[in-house]
Amino acid sequence: MYNVEIIGTGSFVPEHKVTNDDLAKIVDTSDEWISQMTGIKERRITIKEGTTDMAVNAAKLALEDAGVAASEIELIIVGTVTADYYFPSTACLVQAALGATGATSFDIGAGCTGFIYALSVANQFIRTGMYKTALVISAEVLSKITDWTDRSTCVLFADGAGAAVVRRSEEEGIINIYTGAEGDYQEYLACVAAPLGNYFMEVQKTEPKQTYMNGKEVYKFAVKSIPECVLKVLEGTGYTLDDIKWFIPHQANTRIIDVAAKKLGIAIEKFHLILHKYGNTSGASIPIALDEMARTGLLEPGDLFIIVGFGAGFTYGAQLVRWTKAKA
Ligand code: ACO
Repeated sequence: MYNVEIIGTGSFVPEHKVTNDDLAKIVDTSDEWISQMTGIKERRITIKEGTTDMAVNAAKLALEDAGVAASEIELIIVGTVTADYYFPSTACLVQAALGATGATSFDIGAGCTGFIYALSVANQFIRTGMYKTALVISAEVLSKITDWTDRSTCVLFADGAGAAVVRRSEEEGIINIYTGAEGDYQEYLACVAAPLGNYFMEVQKTEPKQTYMNGKEVYKFAVKSIPECVLKVLEGTGYTLDDIKWFIPHQANTRIIDVAAKKLGIAIEKFHLILHKYGNTSGASIPIALDEMARTGLLEPGDLFIIVGFGAGFTYGAQLVRWTKAKA
């Protein structure tokens, strides 16, 4: 088995900022409610780039950061639930845009756990020797499946993309992975695709569906799942919570992260938070946060960190990683 390390990161958020006050103009809400209940102050909503554009932008920055040419990439995995097309996959579109000719390319649908799932799969391909270099991306345009008349969800979601280049290495970067899913919770957070209908049946006229959520159930699951995933990913590694410098959680809601931190007995300052400025970008939130930490020098060589997330499905997972990249 080979070691796998993260050698470059990149991220992209659309330029268009939407503040809580902007939302208060379209639904019955307020900056006070959104800030207190979610921690979100503003978010980016695309008025130009699609999911593939954002994925490509993040990927280009990650490749540049890694010093890797697109031709060296053998595997591209994109975690997304908001692809531009049913098919081809976003990963194939990214592959063509980058010129990563021949790279095996596919998407993963794991909701907000998309990046964690995608990184886990890439890790396995490299660990077992099948590929040396992979590009892992999560890109989401949640704004196109958001019900902009539903104040309980439209204040949460946003658009963005994050990427990482991972490579076979001497040093141990990705130390351990824990992932899982509970499909029984499917209806608590969902967005229905095109309904059944064809020439041979009486087609039901159904409006296109948008995201719906049972916020209380998501909350209950999340505050249970984050601490569980963190403890599970540490199991058998010889490391304890005290060894971990940073926790990079899926950025859904500060209240969820606060409760999870308290349950684990970890100071909230060890959780890197970006949702006040970017909202909930689903699977993209973790790689965007990771990229920000790498670029601002918060991550130092040798630091141990845990990425942890949960999402529609419900899916969940965590990765214990050592940051091995030297400072620029
Ligand atoms: N502005 C003002 N009032 C609102 C808003 C809003 N945007 N949204 C809901 N309310 C009102 C409700 O109408 C309700 O009013 P009522 O008491 O007069 O009926 C009141 O606030 C409480 O509403 P609830 O839905 O019961 O609020 P709750 O306490 O459950 O909080 C929240 C809602 C913040 C969404 C909470 O359920 C939560 O944090 N859930 C986690 C969900 C989450 O973070 N999802 C992220 C996406 S999932 C993912 O990333 C994997």
